[in-house]
Amino acid sequence: SVMTQDELKQQVAKAALDYIKPELTSDAIIGVGTGSTAEFFIDGLAAYRDDFKGAVASSDATAKRLAGHGIEVFDMNDVTQLSVYVDGADEANKKLQLIKGGGAALTREKIVASIAKTFVCIADESKAVEVLGAFPLPVEVIPMARSAVARRIRDLGGNPVYREGVVTDNGNVILDVHGLQITDAKELERELNNMVGVVTNGLFAARPADVLLLGTASGVKTLT
Ligand code: A5P
Repeated sequence: SVMTQDELKQQVAKAALDYIKPELTSDAIIGVGTGSTAEFFIDGLAAYRDDFKGAVASSDATAKRLAGHGIEVFDMNDVTQLSVYVDGADEANKKLQLIKGGGAALTREKIVASIAKTFVCIADESKAVEVLGAFPLPVEVIPMARSAVARRIRDLGGNPVYREGVVTDNGNVILDVHGLQITDAKELERELNNMVGVVTNGLFAARPADVLLLGTASGVKTLT
């Protein structure tokens, strides 16, 4: 039988739970990402809520869902290290470099990932690509810098589109950059970060995933 994308997401979220079970100790705090795949993971994590201390969330939506399951949500300023961060992605290449931010949570996702020992990325197979960039690259920008940053991105050969009506959890706006074929993700991540007014971009290349669990019709593939 053919599995739907939701079934693939569910399957991979379950695999992530099996994968991180050894990390669930009474003092463990788990980093949790944002998006529909992460939501399946959160719902699965609920069954283990008495086996670990709590979570740090990468968005208000995730914090709410965790709390709804009775999982304690910690402020990241009160946490020094996470044993593991689990989150989805919009695209992933073979180097486990990612594009994230389709859900506009990229900045907090990057911050939470930055203190995790292991970043476990969970995705259905539609997210696996040879070259990053078919999915428009989200860039979070301070509102007053939107047009200036858009012009600089055009100079780089990208086509930035303002995600109208969206304000991030940090009060900023998003430019989705179309038309990129990202062959050097680390360099582009750095270049975008150097633009004044850019808060973060959705490339996870300086800090790629450590493990990619990919949900496929023939089972979960583990890439490291
Ligand atoms: C959120 O900002 C994104 O980085 C998500 O990780 C991404 O959009 C994946 O979402 P789905 O799990 O819903 O595909």
